Amino acid sequence: MTSVLLTGCGSLVTNNASHGDGSRLGLVADGALVIDGDRVGWLGSRRDAPPADAVVDLGGRAVVPGFVDAHSHLVFAGDRAEEFAARMAGEPYTAGGITSTVTATRAASDEELAATVARLVAEMTRQGTTTVEVKSGYGLTVIDEARSLAIAGRVTPETTYLGAHVVPAEYADDVAGYVDLVTGPMLDACAPYARWVDVFCEQGAFDADAARTVLSAGMRAGLQARIHANQLGHGPGVQLACELGAAAADHCTYLHDADVDALAQSGVVATLLPGVEFSTRSPYPDAQRLLAAGVTVALATDCNPGSCYTSSMPLCIALAVREMGMSPAQALWAATAGGAAALRRDDVGHLGVGARADLVVLDAPSYLHLAYRPGVPLAHAVWRAGHQVA
Ligand code: NIG
Ligand code: FE
Repeated sequence: MTSVLLTGCGSLVTNNASHGDGSRLGLVADGALVIDGDRVGWLGSRRDAPPADAVVDLGGRAVVPGFVDAHSHLVFAGDRAEEFAARMAGEPYTAGGITSTVTATRAASDEELAATVARLVAEMTRQGTTTVEVKSGYGLTVIDEARSLAIAGRVTPETTYLGAHVVPAEYADDVAGYVDLVTGPMLDACAPYARWVDVFCEQGAFDADAARTVLSAGMRAGLQARIHANQLGHGPGVQLACELGAAAADHCTYLHDADVDALAQSGVVATLLPGVEFSTRSPYPDAQRLLAAGVTVALATDCNPGSCYTSSMPLCIALAVREMGMSPAQALWAATAGGAAALRRDDVGHLGVGARADLVVLDAPSYLHLAYRPGVPLAHAVWRAGHQVA
C-alpha cells in the first residue's frame, strides 16, 4: 500500500467540527492530508504532516470532500432539447415528457445505454463528483428496468429501482395492473441489481396509495426507500417518506409546515434539486425553512434528459446559494455530507481518518469560489478511493 501526502492545501474542508476552525465544515487552514491506500490516513496542519511515499504540493489550492450526488437518472436514450426550448418559450413542465424518453430507451441497445451512463459519469467525475446514485425508470418493462439497473450497477453500488416513474402508455387504462407488475415480476427481476426503491409520487404519476404499495413491496424485498415528492405541487409524498422511514424525500419544492415538521422529526433527508427549478423555470424550494427546522438537507443534480440535464454539482451549489439563500458553507455541506446522509453512507462526504479518500482539489484558494465563480471548471484534480481519477 502506498501513501501520498497532499500538502499546501490553502484550506481543507473536512466536514468534521472536531477539526480546524470547529465550524460544521471543520475548515483547516494551511492543511495537509495523507492518502493511505483507498482511505484518508492522516490530516491536519501542514507543519505536522508525517512522511509519505509520495508528496504533492497543492500550492495553496483548496481541498473539499468529493461531491455526493444522491439523485440522478443516467440510464436513458434520446434527448429532449426541443421540450426544453418549448419550456423556455412558456410551456410548463409535466410528468408526461418522461414517456418520450421511455420509447427511446426501450429501443436502445445495452451498449448504447452503457455508453451514455459512462459518458455522464465521466462528466460528473471531471467536476468533482465521487459518489453517484443512479435510477432506472425509463424502461418500465421487466426486461428494460432490469437491464437499466444492471448497467447502472457497473458504475455505482447506489442503484435505485424506479419502475414506478410513470405509468407507461400500454397500462394507461390499468394503473392497478401496472402497480402489480412493479411490485411483482418487475421487482423480482430488479431487486438483485438495486439497493434502493423509489417512486414518483405526484399528479400525473403515482398517488399516495400506489406509492405506499410500491415502496412497501420494495422494502419487503430488502430495498431501502427514497421518493420523488412534492415536486410540481403539494402532495402526500413527504409525509409518506416520513411514515415509511425513507432515507430521503427528493425535490421538496411545495411543503406545508406539517411536512417540514415531519421531516425534522423523522430524520428523513430533504434532497433539494435546484437544477430542476432552473431548467424548468419554476419556484425554488425554501432551503432556509428546512434548515431552520433542523432538517438535514442534501443537494443533488437530478441529472436526467427532461427536467434537468446538468451533471454539475458545482452548478447546483451556485444555484443553492444564489437562488435558495443557502450560505456557501451550507451548500457545500449539503452537496457532500448531506448527500452521504441521503445515501446512508458514513464512509464518504467527509474527510477524516478512515474515510474513503474522495476529494476535489479546487483551482481556488477557498471553497467559497464554488459559488463565487459559477460555471467555471474549478476541479483541478479529483481523487476517488485513493486514486486520482481526474
Ligand atoms: O426527478 N420527477 C420525476 N423524474 C425526473 C424527471 C424525469 C424526466 O422528466 O424525464 C425528475 O425531475
Ligand atoms: Fe428525479
